[in-house]
Amino acid sequence: MNVLVTGGTGTLGRHVVMLLRQSGHRARILSREPRGHVDAVQGDLKTGQGLAKAVNGMDSIIHTASATRESLAGRAVDVRGTRRLLTMAKDAGTSHVVFISIVGVDRVSYPYYRTKLRAEKVVREDLIPWSILRATQFHPYMELILGGFSRLPGVTAIPFSWQFQPVDARDVARRAVDAVLEGPAGMLPDFGGPEVRDFKSIAQSWLEARKSRRRLVNLWLPLKGSRQVAAGGLLCPDHRDGTLTFDQYLAERYAL
Ligand SMILES: NC(=O)c1ccc[n+]([C@@H]2O[C@H](COP(=O)([O-])OP(=O)(O)OC[C@H]3O[C@@H](n4cnc5c(N)ncnc54)[C@H](OP(=O)(O)O)[C@@H]3O)[C@@H](O)[C@H]2O)c1
Repeated sequence: MNVLVTGGTGTLGRHVVMLLRQSGHRARILSREPRGHVDAVQGDLKTGQGLAKAVNGMDSIIHTASATRESLAGRAVDVRGTRRLLTMAKDAGTSHVVFISIVGVDRVSYPYYRTKLRAEKVVREDLIPWSILRATQFHPYMELILGGFSRLPGVTAIPFSWQFQPVDARDVARRAVDAVLEGPAGMLPDFGGPEVRDFKSIAQSWLEARKSRRRLVNLWLPLKGSRQVAAGGLLCPDHRDGTLTFDQYLAERYAL
């Protein structure tokens, strides 16, 4: 199968590309900066540049690209960019898109999640047949937010009660590849990591793995989104699909 992987340079996308190629399929990458990548098309969802070339000859798309690091570009990339991509895919005769989304985007009121929900709505417009795969937080993302809460010297201040079900990007990539091979299926079951853990215990494991002596402090955030995350809005405890735990990921990453 010929598959376009948008975001094929990202945390999830690079595993998707690897798995597709290992199983004998063609994986073409869409990237703004494709230098150093094979079978890659330079393009930008924000402007539409390169998208027609990227979809040309592709049977399916695994759409993982997202403005994860530019909050102001969210709508332009994720919502309008997805519509542009799927409109061109329709013209090119592409027969399936697997859109990667996040468990709980409809339960937690963060601006990025609202953007993802809007992008899901674009996918559901049926420009081309679709599947939507919602996953929980990837392990490197847990580290990214822990780093964000560790800006003060000597202290990591986090809401202890937030609950997560971190998942390995390789497990999600495997599910995404199966989904593209299975064909359009609409809304797929949520895909979660093997364990539900509170943020305090996740942070303790992280600090231990990094041999850090930072003090853990409970942070009270009087925000609706924070209460929703503490109440389990990002979890799918009935879908503990991932195989690798956060501690196993840390052991691998920090060679414990
Ligand atoms: N991170 C998580 O915990 C998590 C959890 C569940 C679901 N998800 C979803 O999974 C997907 C992948 O997340 P990730 O963490 O792997 O992302 P990531 O590592 O931040 O990678 C984002 C990718 O998007 C591409 N991209 C960004 N802006 C673009 C633009 N204007 N045009 C074309 N490509 C663009 C980037 O490619 P270039 O820089 O090469 O252009 C990059 O490959 C996202 O849809 C995200 O919402 C993430």
